[in-house]
Amino acid sequence: MEPWPRVFVLLAVTAAVLCTPLVNDLEPGKEWPPRNSVKQPLDEVNEPAKLQAIPEEETATGDPINDNLDIPEPEAQILTKTAFDDKVDYTGAQVWKVETNKNSIWLTIMRLRRRNLISTWAGNHSYVDVFIKPNAIENVTRVFQRENISYEVVIDDLQKRINEENPPLDENDIELQDRQGHRMTWKQYHRLSDIHDFMDYLAKTYPAIVSVKTIGHSYEGRDLKVLRISNGNPTNKAVFIDGGIHAREWISPATVTYFINQFAENFDVESDDIKNIDWYFLPVVNPDGYEYTHVGDRLWRKNRKPGVLGRNCIGTDLNRNFGYRWGGKGASSNPCSDIFRGSRAFSEPESRAVSEFISSSAAKFSAYLTYHSYGQYLLYPWGYDNALPPDHRDLDVVGKNIAQAIRQAGGTTYQVGSSSGLLYPASGGSDDWAKGQGIKYTYTIELRDTGRYGFVLPTTQIIPVAQESLAGLRVLAKQLHA
Ligand SMILES: *[C@@H]1O[C@H](CO)[C@@H](O)[C@H](O)[C@H]1NC(C)=O
Ligand SMILES: *[C@@H]1O[C@H](CO)[C@@H](O)[C@H](O)[C@H]1NC(C)=O
Ligand SMILES: *[C@@H]1O[C@H](CO)[C@@H](O)[C@H](O)[C@H]1NC(C)=O
Ligand SMILES: [Zn+2]
Repeated sequence: MEPWPRVFVLLAVTAAVLCTPLVNDLEPGKEWPPRNSVKQPLDEVNEPAKLQAIPEEETATGDPINDNLDIPEPEAQILTKTAFDDKVDYTGAQVWKVETNKNSIWLTIMRLRRRNLISTWAGNHSYVDVFIKPNAIENVTRVFQRENISYEVVIDDLQKRINEENPPLDENDIELQDRQGHRMTWKQYHRLSDIHDFMDYLAKTYPAIVSVKTIGHSYEGRDLKVLRISNGNPTNKAVFIDGGIHAREWISPATVTYFINQFAENFDVESDDIKNIDWYFLPVVNPDGYEYTHVGDRLWRKNRKPGVLGRNCIGTDLNRNFGYRWGGKGASSNPCSDIFRGSRAFSEPESRAVSEFISSSAAKFSAYLTYHSYGQYLLYPWGYDNALPPDHRDLDVVGKNIAQAIRQAGGTTYQVGSSSGLLYPASGGSDDWAKGQGIKYTYTIELRDTGRYGFVLPTTQIIPVAQESLAGLRVLAKQLHA
């Protein structure tokens, strides 16, 4: 190929440099100062080493869902790829809600999972949603009948749900996209570029309060973009909110970007509770996985870094890779598992970037919220085992207040409790790590629903979910000023 004339290249480069909006160039005094420049309020009480776990009674059933440390898991669930678009096809795959009132049922489910006939989605102590490949339905049905296990077919053709989940926008919405300066709508699940362009747009449009910073890169090199909203008040506490750690939980980035839009576009009329907090948002912690759920496998969960040991298995569960009690219960050492913990704590660039950003920031983080789906739970630490932090009563009271606000706003019921107690132990979670850093109000929020659609929540639910979640977030903001 003929090289471009030098003058033209020079002009083009100069123009590009001059025209690129310098969204990260903040006014003096508005930079994001590193931690060592500012005294941290977190140093007051909660040094990580002093956070003693208070053991609770062991649960009778142990950890049926994910305690599979010693059980080698089957190869990752890849079905057939269609010839046309190279996407994993879930035609005929089903999701069943299974009542697990007897320990023997768990044993059966774990056995079927080891044989790679099923995988488990969301579950609590009394129910589990089980994903079943089409060619396994007959055999699993036979086993359940033989063992008198009762179940309900919740999704009878997963591909049909996937096809209906994210329909194209109508003409009015497309017109709106053209007028508003970015493409986000909350009437659709958007690709990563729409989300990132939206964040840059806000930074450019509201430079006095909004700034954007790339805090690192994913394994495949995508930006990990954090957006900050701040009125610059030096006494502000800070809140870190992330979404999309798990790729397939599309409602999570949609909800987090809704918060961003609400605060940035309406900052002047927002309550003082909201204005006097420094908000940090990372809507997509796992951008490689997120993009892969759009183009490859709708139900991908992990990041996309190949496992060290090969075995052709890809991806680490980023929410098992954080460095607080890493490698304990409810995480797998098998690179093929959907809950693979990684080769060591923070082996993944995405989890490492989040932790390095939070621990090196001068922001006075008082809350860490990480949005997931599904199940409708507000979970506080600890996750690694059935134990509670010393201030668990504060977390429980505030969690219940948040849940009440959500119920009043949208009629949706959230269960509140510690993640290990209400669900099951899972070590290496981002919430445990944040709590270990001394961030008091740390919650994992499992958004809608309770299994009717599961991960494949229709776009018509985005705004209702986001609005009720915002009502909950306002309760937290108020608490931080109490
Ligand atoms: C179902 O069971 C039959 C008989 O035991 C077996 O031959 C077949 O391989 C099983 N199907 C699957 C998908 O495991
Ligand atoms: C299942 O139920 C039937 C009829 O109620 C009973 O005869 C059978 O023993 C039960 N099987 C198991 C494995 O519990
Ligand atoms: C467990 O899950 C089921 C179905 O998803 C739900 O109806 C039930 O309320 C849950 N129980 C608890 C204790 O969260
Ligand atoms: Zn999740």
